[in-house]
Amino acid sequence: MNGPVEPFKIKMIEHVKIPSEKRRKEAIREAGFNTFLLYSDDVFIDLLTDSGTTAMSDNQWAGMMLGDEAYAGSKNFYNLEKAIQDVLGYKYVVPTHQGRGAEHLMYGHLTNPGQIVPRNMYFTTSKAHVELAGGTMLDVIIDDAHDPENENPFKGDVDFKKLQNLIDEYGPDKIAFVNVEMNVNMAGGQPVSMKNLRELREFCNDYNFKIIFDATRSSENAYFIREQEKGYENTPIIDILREMMSYSDGCIYSSKKDCMVNIGGFLATHSKDIFDYTRGMVVLFEGLHTYGGMAGRDMEAVARGLREGAEYEYLKYRINQVRYLGDLFVKVNIPIVKPIGGHAVFVNALKFLHHLSRDQWPAQTLSAAIYEDSAVRTMERGAVSKGRDKDTGENIFPPLELVRFTIPRRVYTNTHMEYIAESIARLYEKRDTIHGLKMVFEPKHLRFFQARFEKL
Ligand code: F0G
Repeated sequence: MNGPVEPFKIKMIEHVKIPSEKRRKEAIREAGFNTFLLYSDDVFIDLLTDSGTTAMSDNQWAGMMLGDEAYAGSKNFYNLEKAIQDVLGYKYVVPTHQGRGAEHLMYGHLTNPGQIVPRNMYFTTSKAHVELAGGTMLDVIIDDAHDPENENPFKGDVDFKKLQNLIDEYGPDKIAFVNVEMNVNMAGGQPVSMKNLRELREFCNDYNFKIIFDATRSSENAYFIREQEKGYENTPIIDILREMMSYSDGCIYSSKKDCMVNIGGFLATHSKDIFDYTRGMVVLFEGLHTYGGMAGRDMEAVARGLREGAEYEYLKYRINQVRYLGDLFVKVNIPIVKPIGGHAVFVNALKFLHHLSRDQWPAQTLSAAIYEDSAVRTMERGAVSKGRDKDTGENIFPPLELVRFTIPRRVYTNTHMEYIAESIARLYEKRDTIHGLKMVFEPKHLRFFQARFEKL
């Protein structure tokens, strides 16, 4: 057997086609060599993101028909609240339209101007919301995370020395809260260990710091803990999740990933204070506190998806499908981030296009070249995503300059994975013919979404 066996069968299909070479060339030029600006109709296999791109189950679709669209007190909200209490163990829940709505409320509430938010590693929207509140997000992830070859199974861990240095440099009063992301996206989908979370709780208790998780991919993180961390081999995923969350004061959550829905988010907390404030604010930005920007039917799909996405057999298939693609890349010597992460395979663009300088945007270039070659859509995760230093205005060139092949959940087959690997192998053979890009349009916020480039 090649890829992992799927623990589901297919009830409905969506047609996709490969556009001609002529159209692919036109399409990527029209899109300013930015895969975010392509029409999805021009894409054959869409690995732009695992966010909102899931195939829902029959159980979730059945739940959609039970949508209670009351403005206030929808029964679907109470089902969602119960699912979050059962699976994650938080008492209080505030729904939002998606993850960044929760970031806005939570990070906006906890950050005062001039404060620092240490986080294992930044995510684009998280960093932007802390900055919007006048704060600065600084990475305190272990050094191993910056080395694509390092095989540490928990590259998402917080480095306590780096955290201590920030506290010493700025003083404890300047620390707004400590932020930890599960299965760190920008590091390559790398998990945090339970040991690290437990120690972080003790560390933060000494300072009275709040710990807020970005629990967006926490079910996938929990799978890695069960697989890799001693003592958890036989622990149900839900028990692992509840222990993880017990070390935090609250979390923000984009439901569009591990809850296997197309839209939705929430924040959840053990703290009555955080709850009272954010529940008061949600009505200004998202909607009433029993829908927060989601339709009742969407809340039902999230409630069911959160439970389904925490099932061990599903997660085993999920993580191993991502590994299947990664292993196919390794077989043909494509340089990837190791270990293979939870939601995506990340290709090291600095190695793949070693002839390009950083200011020729190697990952952006590679992502555009992949589309042109095979109609597979991927995403830049490097210097374009990182943006500029907010004080000096200079481009920041992070150590990791990656192209993300993000696998939507339950959408593509293992044969699709083989098509992708064969295409990349072909492109790798002719990598020296690929020219770099120059940025010709740069938006002020989250520039990677809409920036435009020209071929050098
Ligand atoms: N936190 C993490 C770790 C994320 O990966 C995302 C979104 C968000 C927060 C924001 O959530 O999109 O629901 O508003 N990540 C998507 C991605 C966009 O493609 O990685 P959102």
